[in-house]
Amino acid sequence: MNVLVTGGTGFIGSHATIALLKKDHDVTIVDNLSNSKIDTLRAIENVSLKKVRFIELDLLDIKALDCLFKKNKFDIVIHFAGSKSVNESIEKPLKYYFNNVYSSIILSQIMKKYDVKKIIFSSSATVYGEPADIPLKESSKVSILNPYAASKYYIENYFREYQKQNKDWKIILLRYFNPIGAHESGLIGESPKVPHNNLMPYILKVASKESEYLQVFGDDYDTEDGTGVRDFIHIMDLAEAHVSSLDFISSNQGPDGFCNIFNIGTGKGYSVLEIIETFSKVNNIEIPYKIVDRRPGDVSQSYTDVSLAKKSLNWKAKKDLSDMCRDVWRWKSSQLKKNN
Ligand SMILES: NC(=O)c1ccc[n+]([C@@H]2O[C@H](COP(=O)([O-])OP(=O)(O)OC[C@H]3O[C@@H](n4cnc5c(N)ncnc54)[C@H](O)[C@@H]3O)[C@@H](O)[C@H]2O)c1
Repeated sequence: MNVLVTGGTGFIGSHATIALLKKDHDVTIVDNLSNSKIDTLRAIENVSLKKVRFIELDLLDIKALDCLFKKNKFDIVIHFAGSKSVNESIEKPLKYYFNNVYSSIILSQIMKKYDVKKIIFSSSATVYGEPADIPLKESSKVSILNPYAASKYYIENYFREYQKQNKDWKIILLRYFNPIGAHESGLIGESPKVPHNNLMPYILKVASKESEYLQVFGDDYDTEDGTGVRDFIHIMDLAEAHVSSLDFISSNQGPDGFCNIFNIGTGKGYSVLEIIETFSKVNNIEIPYKIVDRRPGDVSQSYTDVSLAKKSLNWKAKKDLSDMCRDVWRWKSSQLKKNN
């Protein structure tokens, strides 16, 4: 298929592009490089040994987007582009309405103009907020706690309504849990420009001696060891979920469209202490840590029921926490060597 990948030089988009190229899809990436580097493109090509087309473009630039669609016949769009920092969204909420919500609306309008009716969108498990029931199902109650989650939920609702008005559109909304890790080659991984406050980048800072110790936010949650529990998923497993979603859309050839939501995680909850321990063990590096107060807005535990994605998309995560910790350190070590 001829696939347009928005945000394709970012963390998830770049790894998904590798998975798509492996299945012989033609990929065009558009990205404004606001949170990624052009070097990622070379890394994608080095890993996949295939060429990928890249156009530096901001999705808010309607004319440029129109011109891109005029010149190309895409079969499907995989839409990763957007801003993703919860903290930044609290400081700059409007940025999230423009860069996430408005750009998605523009994209859908241009797609309609050029008769492209298939899209896979990156939503997020943050829409569940503090989980009402665990494991989380696609039908679980949504609870919006910050502008980032709000922006994702607005886009989901927009696409749901859009599909009702445009019944032949085939739409998949993927609610990702917590992607970590890197491609097993160590040639590509996450290198954002805008810092975000996820656990793994902090662990990597301690492992590489950029920070003295890791702060563990709270050990009095209602979990087995008292620390927060999350559904961490290997980035290549998440990448594969996009290939499976694309297969799902292609195999539904009938005239009727749909707008389906799938939770994408491993179905397992890992605690912060479990991650520190696994990282230390597989990489033979000590990670000193201190328990500090809970961080406002953090939920106690979040992990998904994987049955719907397994049944409908024929997809499930294959890699475990050791793989995630080993691969991410391989990537970080290669970066450290390169910069020394
Ligand atoms: N990483 C996570 O933990 C996570 C979890 C759930 C959902 N998501 C969502 O998945 C998607 C991809 O996440 P990621 O981790 O790869 O983020 P990322 O920041 O690494 O990648 C997003 C890419 O989009 C580009 N971009 C941003 N605004 C753009 C615009 N207006 N026009 C063109 N390009 C633009 C950035 O330069 C970046 O390369 C995002 O929509 C994010 O909200 C991420």
